[in-house]
Amino acid sequence: MDAPDTSGQSAAANGDHAAAAPPPLSKSARKKQMKQQMREKRKAERKSAEKERKRQELERKRREWDEKLAGASEEERARLVESRREARKERMERRSEERGMKVARLRRAAEVGQKLVIDLEFGHLMSPNEIHSLVQQVMYCYAVNGRCASPAHLWLTGCRGEIETQLQRLPGYDKWIIEKERKSYIEALDDQKENMVYLTADAEVELQELDPAKIYIIGGLVDRNRWKGITLEKAKEQGIQSAKLPIGGYLKMSSSKVLTVNQVVEILVKFLETRDWKTAFFQVIPQRKMCEDESETRTEEAEMDSEQAEDGNEVEGASGDDSEVEGELEEGERKRLRVEKPISE
Ligand SMILES: C[S@@+](CC[C@H](N)C(=O)[O-])C[C@H]1O[C@@H](n2cnc3c(N)ncnc32)[C@H](O)[C@@H]1O
Repeated sequence: MDAPDTSGQSAAANGDHAAAAPPPLSKSARKKQMKQQMREKRKAERKSAEKERKRQELERKRREWDEKLAGASEEERARLVESRREARKERMERRSEERGMKVARLRRAAEVGQKLVIDLEFGHLMSPNEIHSLVQQVMYCYAVNGRCASPAHLWLTGCRGEIETQLQRLPGYDKWIIEKERKSYIEALDDQKENMVYLTADAEVELQELDPAKIYIIGGLVDRNRWKGITLEKAKEQGIQSAKLPIGGYLKMSSSKVLTVNQVVEILVKFLETRDWKTAFFQVIPQRKMCEDESETRTEEAEMDSEQAEDGNEVEGASGDDSEVEGELEEGERKRLRVEKPISE
């Protein structure tokens, strides 16, 4: 395997810009890059097709409404308008009630929730596209956490530079109920260093449980593992513990066990809810990352779930599909993000 040269990574991990020039691309990395460009092209096409579909749908609904009104008597028209107004009002009230409950949950999480840190100190190692992807992932983490019955206490540390600029452009970001720290986690939580656990796929130790006294750190990095081992190196240098998710004990992966930031946060949040790693992994890890027999099991489980859903039980769908690559939000994730705006105060 032609892995990139990792020398000089610790300087890069600690923000030394001079040492942070990306290693030259190998032949297979160039091939991957081309594939990625193709995927991005297809993604842009899908996005614009979806936009057009939505526009047409809206237009169709508008036309139907106009036709309904046109064919109605004066009295009937007034009734239709009134009932539409009522339905809208009810919808708004329901939404505002839900938002209120979420705010309460997130406020409580800030006091008693499991601390999860997204370490945003790697901005200098990412391209503008990768930073954009990371910001989308952070947005998704915030939304997923807010939906949860007992959310985690989320921290963004080292939140500066381009990452901060892009986060600030997100609608409602200023009102997010989340810790936003320009300082690194080491400085911001300096009296708790012994409780810090850096999560990294390269760790030797496997996580078994989530300890409420511990602070779990996730590397805010979108790098297609170009900077392999960088978070483990950072944790070692800082003298903090490290651990990997216990994926191997529950499912076989067809590719690397390196997950995206939002997948890791979603798994942790699901685990907090269910205390069951298998459920958390199966609900979050995209099928394309699992070996065939595993994804078949999941398909069967998903079928059972959908039967239950038809019977009237609500089921949270799996977030993954086969369409995207590490570093981007999966299609399912984007859809779920669309249906729910990030929660703000
Ligand atoms: C896209 S990965 C970054 C990979 C990067 N090359 C590194 O060395 O961490 C984003 C982050 O998700 C977390 N992560 C991803 N896969 C993980 C796994 N299998 N176990 C634990 N943490 C993981 C890590 O915190 C990681 O830094």
